[in-house]
Amino acid sequence: MAMASMLNVLVIGAGEINFGSVEGPWNHTLRLERILGPRLRVVGLIDVDEARATAALAPKLEAESQATRAAWSACRLFAAVADAALALSPEQIPQIAVVGAPPFARGSDVPGRDLELQLVSAFPGCALFVEKPVSSGPEDACWRVAKVLEGSRAIVGVGYMLRYLKAVQMMKKIITENSLVVMGTNARYVMAYEYARKPAWWDKTRSGGPIVEQATHFCDLSRYFGGDVVLPSVVAHVVQHSESPGQLSAKRFDEDAIPEENRLPRLTSATWKYTGGAVGSLTHVIALHGTTYDTEFEVYADGYHFKLVDPYSTPKLYIRRPGTAGLETHIFTDDDPFHTELATFIDVVDGRRPSGDILSSYVDAIRTYELTWAIRRAGERSAVGYT
Ligand SMILES: NC(=O)c1ccc[n+]([C@@H]2O[C@H](COP(=O)([O-])OP(=O)(O)OC[C@H]3O[C@@H](n4cnc5c(N)ncnc54)[C@H](O)[C@@H]3O)[C@@H](O)[C@H]2O)c1
Repeated sequence: MAMASMLNVLVIGAGEINFGSVEGPWNHTLRLERILGPRLRVVGLIDVDEARATAALAPKLEAESQATRAAWSACRLFAAVADAALALSPEQIPQIAVVGAPPFARGSDVPGRDLELQLVSAFPGCALFVEKPVSSGPEDACWRVAKVLEGSRAIVGVGYMLRYLKAVQMMKKIITENSLVVMGTNARYVMAYEYARKPAWWDKTRSGGPIVEQATHFCDLSRYFGGDVVLPSVVAHVVQHSESPGQLSAKRFDEDAIPEENRLPRLTSATWKYTGGAVGSLTHVIALHGTTYDTEFEVYADGYHFKLVDPYSTPKLYIRRPGTAGLETHIFTDDDPFHTELATFIDVVDGRRPSGDILSSYVDAIRTYELTWAIRRAGERSAVGYT
């Protein structure tokens, strides 16, 4: 494909990941506009909620930027992939689909939960950028989807954007250049819950729960450095909502409306063994008030300690190396991993970069999904008997 040619993009999901939110910096369509400029042509927006899709499209058509208005001017709204397949002309066939629908609509071969399969069947050759987690259903179905995707030879990337952080890449570079063998990873994710008001998020049967839905990014980073996990080695303990340390005083929604058995654990503490011998650990806590999260990710290797602090806003990387007693500090201002992950993906679609530059493949993302479920199940098992 010529580099300057238009790129037809199909957007699936008119929600926060694709159109932005006050809760975070994500907004894939804004990144697409910035990366592609006049090359962007959004051919369709698919959402089962027509009103939400209409509301998402309206500001694009009235945008100040002429390039943005032009990019969206031919966008049509559809309720399903099949409708788009019927309606789009040969010139409008998408080259990229950005799949930002909820995980219950994806990652499976069950009809209605099989967006990827619908897309590769309707638009062979279309590259898929799929959000995390890969699914909310059984892991074995994800593997069947992976097989079909592999057979289709579609370019696929998954939205584990933290892998693209400059700080994370600096850690990788030092590990590679010094031939280090990772000894352990330690992830700590303390969430500020006060303004998390969506009841669905607080219901693990709907969101997947705090590990499958939220700590998934840190489980993925853990695997990025530690490698594959021996899943049966995963052990976990949880503080349940019903236990005295799990009482939360700043909730701004009615948790009583959620069946007790579906409510979220307040703290999950897990450890596991990697197949290479290293040990991983994760602490996820729903504890803080206000809006600022407290997140840290550490990697240990012979002579080295890497500590990545606050990867979601201004990442800070502290490194202890052999021969030094103190910590070396790197602060990464203006690093936008959402931009880098999509820019990389588009470069691969354009043929400017090899597919290996996509740092999160579908198969790799399934392995992260499996780890998150192993932690959730281990936590649930451990809770039985204590309460
Ligand atoms: N990488 C990140 O940091 C990050 C941030 C936010 C969300 N996400 C992920 O993005 C995904 C979507 O999250 P969100 O916050 O945008 O959710 P959302 O609820 O705001 O929006 C999802 C949209 O998808 C629509 N939808 C539901 N089923 C559909 C289907 N079958 N086909 C088409 N559209 C359908 C809904 O009507 C809704 O408009 C989730 O997997 C979430 O974990 C990732």
